[in-house]
Amino acid sequence: MDFEKFILAAEEAKKIAFSFSDPIIIHHYDADGLSSGAIVKKAFMLANLKHRTLGIKKLDDAAIEKLRNEKEIIFVDLGNNERVSELKDVLIIDHHQSKTTGKPQINPLMYGIDGGSELSSSGTAYFVFGNDIDLGLVGALGDMQYPLQGANKIMCEQGIAKGEIKKSTDLRFYGRHSRSLVQFLAYSDEPFIPEISYNEEHAQKLLEDLGINLKTTESWRVYNDLNLEERKKLISAIAEILSQNKKKYKLIGDVYDLPKRSLKFCDAHEFSTVLNACGRHGKSELGIAVCLGDETVYLEALDFLAIHKRMIRDGIAFAKKSIIDLGVFSFLDARGIIDEGIVGIVCGMVLQNGIKPIVGIANGETGDIKVSTRTYKKTGINLGILVSEASEKIGGIGGGHAVAAGASIPKNKLNEFLCAVKENIEKQIN
Ligand code: C5P
Repeated sequence: MDFEKFILAAEEAKKIAFSFSDPIIIHHYDADGLSSGAIVKKAFMLANLKHRTLGIKKLDDAAIEKLRNEKEIIFVDLGNNERVSELKDVLIIDHHQSKTTGKPQINPLMYGIDGGSELSSSGTAYFVFGNDIDLGLVGALGDMQYPLQGANKIMCEQGIAKGEIKKSTDLRFYGRHSRSLVQFLAYSDEPFIPEISYNEEHAQKLLEDLGINLKTTESWRVYNDLNLEERKKLISAIAEILSQNKKKYKLIGDVYDLPKRSLKFCDAHEFSTVLNACGRHGKSELGIAVCLGDETVYLEALDFLAIHKRMIRDGIAFAKKSIIDLGVFSFLDARGIIDEGIVGIVCGMVLQNGIKPIVGIANGETGDIKVSTRTYKKTGINLGILVSEASEKIGGIGGGHAVAAGASIPKNKLNEFLCAVKENIEKQIN
């Protein structure tokens, strides 16, 4: 990686951004898009510069048409459409594999930094503007860039030095700060704990058997309230149950707290889930407001989180019984069942240790089909290339990263698309 050149290019990008007089900041709607969009917005706010923001799902031709009259555009976590070349003044801040547009772009991929695993758009935006490093981490985690490596690690170390990130080694379950102990245990299903996951009664019994108090006089305790002894007891008990299975699990790992944020949003992983919940349910402005620390919207954002988690749980249950084997890949037809905004998340979660990529589909909002694909790095398949080529062949649009990519394709072209996917995978494997 050529980090020094990347930093020089980031400085150039900042100059271009701040030379604009009233740009529209067009950002993606997922956790990374919202974090990076918020970093850019905050930079403009701090510099007292005029700007507007808009979160979108995809940069398709319709989106390009709508932007045709804009004089200055900053694309954030987006930019992969050749027709960007038709627009006026543009700056692209992105980490996806992208097409040539002839417009200035800051993208880690151009400097030997893997945009899929080593730096996301939020990290890129942080290196451009230098503010809100904690959001840089949130976006990376939202894009599954965990464990941190490469430029993400450099960013994290800077965040620790600035006091905006606190790293520790602990249980990696969801809800360390935000869920009652019973819920924390019962609804953390990565890994699935036999007899405990999705069983509040058994989860409660386990905690009681371990002598762990569930409540203080005033409130339910959360994992973070446990002392070291209690944590050790709980982790050993979970490890003991899991050891009956032959599989290896990573129960313990790096966890990140964000001291600048309020308690509900101070776990970086949880923060990224809240942002996904807002953005993927059509509430990008809400996600941006949370990133900017607007306390008046916190409750609304947490409501969306509850809805989001329920939809993912239902989606996983459907996926587990509905995935079919199509030879070189697995296929999930979730049309009418799973929302297009979360089908990719569900695919990622049911991928498990599968050696085959998974292709999921849902109904798109404009009558098309939304495709989401996920794979493990070890398959060696580049989904960004695969999806981009296969969708282009049939008049769709798509792209992404090696391990996670998506597309929108015409409704009547599904079979052709799946054939193109099969062909492309075979070509890549060979
Ligand atoms: O929507 P999903 O989560 O499946 O997207 C996976 C990745 O593919 C994301 O990084 C997204 O930006 C990218 N993508 C894309 N073009 C699309 C759909 C998704 O580049 N039409």
